[in-house]
Amino acid sequence: MKTAPLFDQLRRTEFARLDERGDVYLDYTGAGMYAESQLAEHLELLRRNVFGNPHSVNPTSAAMTELVESARRAVLEFFGAALDEYVAIFTPNATGALRLVGEAYPFRSGDRFLLTFDNHNSVNGIREFARARGAETTYVPSVAPDLRVDELLLRRYLEEVPGDHHNLFAYPAQSNFSGVQHPLEWIELAHERGWDVLVDAAAFVPTNRLDLARWHPDFVPISFYKMFGWPTGVGCLLARRDALARLERPWFSGGTIVAAFVQREWYQSAPGAAQFEDGTVNFLNLPAVEIGLRFLERVGIDAVHVHVEALGALLLDTLSGLRHANGAPAATVYGPEDMSERGAIVAFNFLHPDGGIVDERYVDRVARECRISLRTGCFCNPGAGEVAFTISRETLVGGEFGQGMTLDDYVRAIGLPSGGAVRASLGLASNAADLERFATFASRFVDLAAVPDDLPPRTGC
Ligand SMILES: Cc1ncc(COP(=O)(O)O)c(C=O)c1O
Repeated sequence: MKTAPLFDQLRRTEFARLDERGDVYLDYTGAGMYAESQLAEHLELLRRNVFGNPHSVNPTSAAMTELVESARRAVLEFFGAALDEYVAIFTPNATGALRLVGEAYPFRSGDRFLLTFDNHNSVNGIREFARARGAETTYVPSVAPDLRVDELLLRRYLEEVPGDHHNLFAYPAQSNFSGVQHPLEWIELAHERGWDVLVDAAAFVPTNRLDLARWHPDFVPISFYKMFGWPTGVGCLLARRDALARLERPWFSGGTIVAAFVQREWYQSAPGAAQFEDGTVNFLNLPAVEIGLRFLERVGIDAVHVHVEALGALLLDTLSGLRHANGAPAATVYGPEDMSERGAIVAFNFLHPDGGIVDERYVDRVARECRISLRTGCFCNPGAGEVAFTISRETLVGGEFGQGMTLDDYVRAIGLPSGGAVRASLGLASNAADLERFATFASRFVDLAAVPDDLPPRTGC
C-alpha cells in the first residue's frame, strides 16, 4: 500500500526518530506522537522570553496571560466553537475535565445519569458523584460482535425522562476499546428529550474532525497529548456556556474567584472558564497546545483521517487473514471488521489452533522482542470488555475480589479466558511499513499451540 507523499515526508522529517530507533509505535490511543518542529518551536519560545505566573499583571505575567488566552482561542477555533456558545477550560487531562463535570453536575434524587457500557473509566467514575447525590445510573449495553450500542434501547431510555430533573447522558465519540464511532446525531436526539450531553472525544479528536459549529454537546473532555503528543499534563473541557452555568462547583480555590473573605463566609466566583481552573494553569505548556493545533491544521485533520482509515483497513485485513495450518483463524477482532463508522483502534486477541486465546502477557513479550508498542489489558474500558468477552453480571456479582487475591486469582475465579485484549491504534505518523512489521510479528502466533509457563503475574487491567 502507498501512503500519501505528505505523510511519507512527515515520517522522514518530523518523526524520523521512530525509524532511527527501529520502533513500531501502535499505541496512538495511549498517546499521540509529537513532531520535532513542535518541540523546537516551543523550546525557542521559552528560551527567548521571560514568563511569569499569569495570575498577575506585571509585564512577564501579562506576556504569559496573552499566550494562555491565545491558546484558549486557538482551541475554540480548531473545533469551530462559537465564542458566545462555548468556553475552553484548561484541565490536567481529559479525566480532570470529566471530574469537573461529575463533581459539579447538579444531580439530585430522582435525576438520571445515563451512559453507554462502552466508556472509559473516567466517565464511569461519574456514577459515584451521581450515587452520592441520590441520582440513578443506567447503562445502555453494546451488542457483540460489532460492539455498537443497542439503539432501540437507548432511544427508550432517553424517552423515559422524569419531568423537572437534571439528566446527563454520556458516551464516547469513538471507543478507546473497539474503535466504534457512536453517532454524533445522538446529541440532538438527547437534547430534544431534555438531556444534557457529555461526549467524550478523547479518542476521537486525534484523527477525526469534531465540528462544534455542527454538533452542540454540552460537555466535551479531551487530552492534548493524545492529539499531538506534546505537551502532556494539559487537557480541556469544552463546555457550552448555558450548561456550565447550571453546574455547582463544590468549592472555590485560588484562581476561581474574584474575591473571598475569611471573616465572612462569602466568595464571588470568577466568570467563565476561570471559575473552573483550579490554581495555576500549566502555563508554560499552554503555548505548546497552540503550536500542536497549528501543526495538525497544517497537515489537515481530514487528511489525517483518510490516511489513518486506509491503514486501519490494512490492519483489519492482516488480522482477519491470519490462519493456522488447520484453517482456523489465528486472531479474533472485537468490534466491526471493516472501517465503516469506526476509527483505527483495533482490539483483538491472537488464537491458538484449538481456538483458545493466546495469553496477552505472551503477546507483550513477543511484541517487546519485535520492538512493537501495543497496549494489552482492558484499556480502562471494562464495559466494552465485558460485552466482548460475554461476561455476565451474574459472573461479576458472584465473584468478589477477595482479600489477598491477585489479579490472576481473580481472572481464574470468574473464569475469564485471558486478562484482556490486545489493542493496536494508529495515528498521524503511522505508515505501511509499521503494518508490515506488525504482520511479521502477527505471523509468530500462527500454529502456536501453547505459551511458556513463566509469564509474569498480572498487576492491573
Ligand atoms: C475515550 C477516553 N476517555 C478518557 C480518557 C482519559 O484520558 P486521560 O488519561 O488523558 O485523562 C482516555 C484515555 O485513554 C480515553 O481514551
